[in-house]
Amino acid sequence: MNMDSFAYKDSVLTWRGAEIRPLAAKFGTPLYVYSESALVERCQALGSAFGNRRAGIYYSVKACSNIHILRILAGLGCGADIVSGGELFRCRKADISPEKIVFSGVGKTEAEIRYAITEGILFLSVESEAELHEISRIATITGKTARISVRVNPDVNPGTHPYISTGLKENKFGISHKEVVRIYKLAQSLPGIEPTGLGFHIGSQITDLSAFADAGKIAVRLVSEIEAAGIKLKHLDVGGGLGIRYANEEAPDPATYVRTLIQSVGLDHLELMFDPGRSIAGNAGILVSKILYVKEGEKTFFIGDAGMNDLIRPSLYDAYHHVFSDPLRPGTRSGDLVGPVCESGDFFAKDRELPAFESGDLAVLASAGAYGMSMASNYNSRPRAAEVLIARDGTARLIRRRETFEDLLQPELDV
Ligand code: LLP
Repeated sequence: MNMDSFAYKDSVLTWRGAEIRPLAAKFGTPLYVYSESALVERCQALGSAFGNRRAGIYYSVKACSNIHILRILAGLGCGADIVSGGELFRCRKADISPEKIVFSGVGKTEAEIRYAITEGILFLSVESEAELHEISRIATITGKTARISVRVNPDVNPGTHPYISTGLKENKFGISHKEVVRIYKLAQSLPGIEPTGLGFHIGSQITDLSAFADAGKIAVRLVSEIEAAGIKLKHLDVGGGLGIRYANEEAPDPATYVRTLIQSVGLDHLELMFDPGRSIAGNAGILVSKILYVKEGEKTFFIGDAGMNDLIRPSLYDAYHHVFSDPLRPGTRSGDLVGPVCESGDFFAKDRELPAFESGDLAVLASAGAYGMSMASNYNSRPRAAEVLIARDGTARLIRRRETFEDLLQPELDV
């Protein structure tokens, strides 16, 4: 979280200069609020560090996939890193050109592969030998050539939560660095396949840049072995994973991160591709909840109207999100900030010193822009939250209406 972006003016909470309470009054709660200027700043911070290096940002759509946010990022020149047909559909609707879309994921279906090949995306990132054969088969049927990149599993430890580390040999992702050269030779020989890139993604919320540098060095060795086998590559995809500040952790700044990779990799003849998600969207969004009840007893529970279905990160990864009150409440109280969902795992903060909330207050969860709304569900038949964007001129507009009960039931009535 960037503490500086929150401030109180006469006890009223502001985020990046905007008062939150009028938004909650107008659009209701739970409410996701995003800042266009924050998105732009983060994107530019990465991009400006490219210097003369041929490099690009391929925003990882899964972090926050609202089409209006995709349009903003597309307008800044970003491409997209996708993991499903649904994300491809979104990106195309957001007018992201196919040549700027890359598709990762261990379990692409036949329909998804066909869709990606037909759209002519930049490449599919291959995560297993079996998948490579399947892509070749589908490309041959459609009469097109599928560009591919192999995702190498470099077996480096990013030092992050086990659920979000992806570059260790026990993880399901990528192809072992020991197998990679053989797979490129195979790819070269298969019909309908053109290998054009190599990539890795070692995990998420990484704050130690040395893990990226280590993976980068392995990639460099592999690129030279692949090129020695006569296969000419165009892209090196270094994935996403740059950590952000949620609490007091030191998150590397985007420019240092980019420079670390540029320096550890070299390989100027290849386009260097970055697929950041969290580091662009994470601190560009907040979740606003209203305190319904303060339940006193042996322990204090502040019960808000947002639940784990709206933001699952604390329940799933024990993730920390800083909590602000509106209005400012002097002093703190120890307790849990929980939601209305019928699960004991439905909490945002456990045994934490929290603002001394009163019912009717707003509880604002910081750093909720990435993996917040995109991981939301309808559990307990709860309509998903509305989303609002504060534009660069300071005006706020709805970018996703709140779901209705009818929205929830419609697919069941359509049968
Ligand atoms: N590229 C690939 C292939 C990925 O799998 C991911 C994220 C990214 C890029 C973007 O990583 P980022 O820059 O956002 O760290 N739901 C979890 C995070 C899961 C990340 C999955 N892969 C969370 O809320 O912490």
